[in-house]
Amino acid sequence: MSVYLDYNASTPIDPRVAEVMNSAMAGAYGNPSSLHWAGSPARELVENGRRQVADFLGCRAEEIVFTSGGSEANNFALKGRYFAAGHKSPHIITTRIEHPAIVAPCRFLERLGTRITWLPVDGTGRIDPDDLARAISADTILISVMHANNETGTIQPIEACSRIARKHGIPFHTDAAQSAGKIPTRVDELGVDLLTIAGHKIYAPKGIGALYIRNGLQLEPLIHGAGHEGGRRAGTESALLAGALGKACELARDLGPMEQVRELRDRFWHGLRERFGEQVVLNGHPELRLPNTLNVAFAGRVGSEILARLPGVAASTGSACHAGRIELSPVLEAMGVPPHVGMGTVRFSLGRSTTAEEIETVVACLSGIPVTVD
Ligand SMILES: Cc1ncc(COP(=O)(O)O)c(C=O)c1O
Repeated sequence: MSVYLDYNASTPIDPRVAEVMNSAMAGAYGNPSSLHWAGSPARELVENGRRQVADFLGCRAEEIVFTSGGSEANNFALKGRYFAAGHKSPHIITTRIEHPAIVAPCRFLERLGTRITWLPVDGTGRIDPDDLARAISADTILISVMHANNETGTIQPIEACSRIARKHGIPFHTDAAQSAGKIPTRVDELGVDLLTIAGHKIYAPKGIGALYIRNGLQLEPLIHGAGHEGGRRAGTESALLAGALGKACELARDLGPMEQVRELRDRFWHGLRERFGEQVVLNGHPELRLPNTLNVAFAGRVGSEILARLPGVAASTGSACHAGRIELSPVLEAMGVPPHVGMGTVRFSLGRSTTAEEIETVVACLSGIPVTVD
């Protein structure tokens, strides 16, 4: 048995995306910047891909910069804004439940003298927009709040937060690496100025992502060189990867398949409740949550030990063993999940190809695990 339930970690490449890549490999070997005949097919792939990403996010093509993935897009938003603002005592507001691709650049900017406010979350993993409003100061140069959390799937009140940011004239970034393709991510509906997506979370390959930058917002490039990407990211573009991300975005516009995923996810949860009752706890918001994510804690057990008993099931844990001690992830800790519950956390994340049979098989396998601690 091998069942893949780790789509929040990465997705397989959709065959329709692979088709675009195969034809790119066969013909588009020229440099997209070259003006001769060999440059044209490559340039077309890059610019068509950019248009498809823009259509998906509801913005203009020139507002999309290709990056190597979600981490680079997040770094570009934070550091690019820091250097462009050139503020003497800058302040950035973010949350306690961000991905390391936001936390680490914030820590770096802290070393350069930036004050960072880390907004708290409630037990479901949501921030309170009132906390954001109170944190704003005259020095705030950027607000960055993730759209949906990678571990729990909890969705943040982005529209309310971006309205507050706009009222104060502060650029607002959201990391939509997990939400894209699962819930709507149109930039004008969200009201954001910067938005991150990552190809390998939406059935494109690893190594490609994009940052949406609202027209008029200046960011200092991370990579200086020639004038690629409108002077915002130097380096010859990969037509292969840009074409792949574009196709993946075109496919991701249809959120219809997510309804089936949500049904399977809910069936999974009910199966676990039937077997484990109160011994299994849901981490994250019961409704305001990505349709594919099921983060559960088996009280009194250890997540990695549960997964070790199910070698055919690919899923993630929410705790790690450090120096003989079980440590909760910073996300679960910020939510105030008690350690004896949180240590038994397993994140199951479903995707387009997940079947009812797979879910039934995994529930049956989990049912073989003793309810109480050995
Ligand atoms: C919320 C979030 N942001 C950013 C990233 C980083 O994306 P990438 O792996 O493409 O650098 C991830 C990947 O796990 C993520 O889940």
